[in-house]
Amino acid sequence: MALAYNDTLTSLQFPDYIRHKKLRQWIAEMVTLCKPDSVFWCDGSQEEYDGLCEELVEKGTFIRLNPELRPNSFLCRSDPADVARVEDRTFICSLSRKEAGPTNNWVNPREMHKTLSTLFDGCMKGRTMYIIPFSMGPLGSHISYVGVELSDSAYVAVNMRIMTRMGRAVYDVLGEDGQFVPCVHSVGQPLEPGQQDVTWPCNHENKYIVHFPEERSIWSYGSGYGGNALLGKKCFALRIASNIARDEGWLAEHMALVGVEEPSGEKTYVGAAFPSACGKTNFAMLVPPKAFQEEGWKVTTVGDDIAWIKLGKDGQLYAINPENGFFGVAPGTNYKTNPNAMDTIRANTIFTNVALTPEGDVWWEGMTDEPPAELIDWHGNPWTPESKEKAAHPNSRFTVPASQCPTIDPAWEDPNGVPIKAFIFGGRRSTVNPLVFQAFNWTYGVYFAATMGSEMTAAAAGKIGEVRRDPFAMLPFAGYHMASYFNHWLRFGRTIPNPPRIFLVNWFRKDENGKFLWPGYGENMRVLKWIVERARTRAAGVEMHLGRVPEYDHLDWRGLEGYTKEQFDKVMSVDKEAWKNEILSHEELFIKLYDRLPKELIAVRELLLSALWSAPKWLDRYE
Ligand code: GTP
Ligand code: SPV
Ligand code: MN
Repeated sequence: MALAYNDTLTSLQFPDYIRHKKLRQWIAEMVTLCKPDSVFWCDGSQEEYDGLCEELVEKGTFIRLNPELRPNSFLCRSDPADVARVEDRTFICSLSRKEAGPTNNWVNPREMHKTLSTLFDGCMKGRTMYIIPFSMGPLGSHISYVGVELSDSAYVAVNMRIMTRMGRAVYDVLGEDGQFVPCVHSVGQPLEPGQQDVTWPCNHENKYIVHFPEERSIWSYGSGYGGNALLGKKCFALRIASNIARDEGWLAEHMALVGVEEPSGEKTYVGAAFPSACGKTNFAMLVPPKAFQEEGWKVTTVGDDIAWIKLGKDGQLYAINPENGFFGVAPGTNYKTNPNAMDTIRANTIFTNVALTPEGDVWWEGMTDEPPAELIDWHGNPWTPESKEKAAHPNSRFTVPASQCPTIDPAWEDPNGVPIKAFIFGGRRSTVNPLVFQAFNWTYGVYFAATMGSEMTAAAAGKIGEVRRDPFAMLPFAGYHMASYFNHWLRFGRTIPNPPRIFLVNWFRKDENGKFLWPGYGENMRVLKWIVERARTRAAGVEMHLGRVPEYDHLDWRGLEGYTKEQFDKVMSVDKEAWKNEILSHEELFIKLYDRLPKELIAVRELLLSALWSAPKWLDRYE
């Protein structure tokens, strides 16, 4: 419903179903500040979604894909300067600099508010402000939280409808005085009267992704892409939620949530934290090898990116996926690596920065063995297999409702969440880290999660390939001091009578020639089965320096008999010298976090060094 807004506050007509005084007041203030030409109250309906998509087509922002090949789906091309999260322009503006910690950018909140007031003054001139009410988590669930995003991007409005529970019902949940997180977003490109718009407006000089943890508010300026603009996701469900979680005693994590059903019908849920573009979506939709399927093993999907985890009355941990859709990496997705994702995106999907085929369908690197003879690349230029540039941007993505996933778990919207038995952490490491090991206990697990390293991907700006510490896969997402976050995990662990087991994995180890040592994808089921059985303390494993590991015979190799013991030993090998260096390099992170680093982590580090130093002969086979 579009309502005209003519300059004066009094002429801003609120729909009568918004009964929340503070919300009305805040919207009125933001309208006065941003000065949009009109205000659009999103109701979340299908008609509204279709209408907005049609408008985006007319503007040239969306291209409707061939309805026979990809029904009700669209391609969108962003500005080439706006293709990923901007970590160096992301701020945690807590009252004290100490609270944000050394891994976050910080500016004094008063100063930042001043900067933002100037930037946002008139930033929506010539545009429409979309009022987007949304719930993270099932509507009305006791675990859910509500936000309202004000954005001058229709692209954001339609993406938010997929990624969150968006619409009018949120106002009923809010009532007259419910809590909400205010989120303001502008692409930062106001239009002068008569000025021609571009298909992807953004601001080339200024980008600010700002969080006020104490106020629990979010301001985002200058970018329209992904986590920069869909504020329910990283900004709310991780950075602000991690603050709420610390205060309330729960966990907000960058994790996929996966169910594993055994032939007996027994079900085990695990949370898997891998850094951006390191395989969460793949893992969440894992297809077990044939022999496993025939025997009755099933893997189901609860979430692919974010988990909110609370301690239940029965002493178990319960997790929900606060999202409603997937914003997944396109390149590398195909019917071999992730058939469930391919089926999920068969319709009702928004593709951003992928290539367009002559038939009006999408393509990206790795989608098919042979690239099509001709394409329009993500810039909108003709492309052939001879072209030097990639046809799709490496961080091109699809936005799609989670409900379309063929393996979506029956309990994925259960307001009480699913019980978690194991946590899995894993970065992208071509060397050093073995395929899998189990931490000796919660504290060791926290140590390895805290010191997790990963080679940089295209999901964030940075030097691709360089190893950086990405504690808990949360480096860009923890909304307060990283060492306090470690401490929160340690404290949380102490309150759980029988804490989930913690495992470390690395699907990405390579040999001297740069070839992956592990087939990965569906074959990860072999590791997952061991993990699930270990989590229920049934599977065999042996102790080595870092933790407990499976031997070759402890894994189920049916259907992959060609993978030899020698190959397995290689992907599992722990080079003592390399590990001494690895542990030494943890020091860098520890020194950075010195003032709040939990003493347990120093102790574990010493114990690990001692184990590596004095490793008995029988461990040599792991070298
Ligand atoms: P975000 O959405 O950015 O948080 O990332 P994600 O963790 O969901 O990443 P995603 O599952 O989309 O991973 C994408 C990349 O990981 C692609 O390049 C995949 O090919 C690669 N990948 C996923 N699983 C495996 C695996 O088991 N082995 C190998 N070698 N690559 C994998
Ligand atoms: C990530 O980078 O971890 C993502 C994509 O999941 S974005 O939502 O853009 O942050
Ligand atoms: Mn992510």
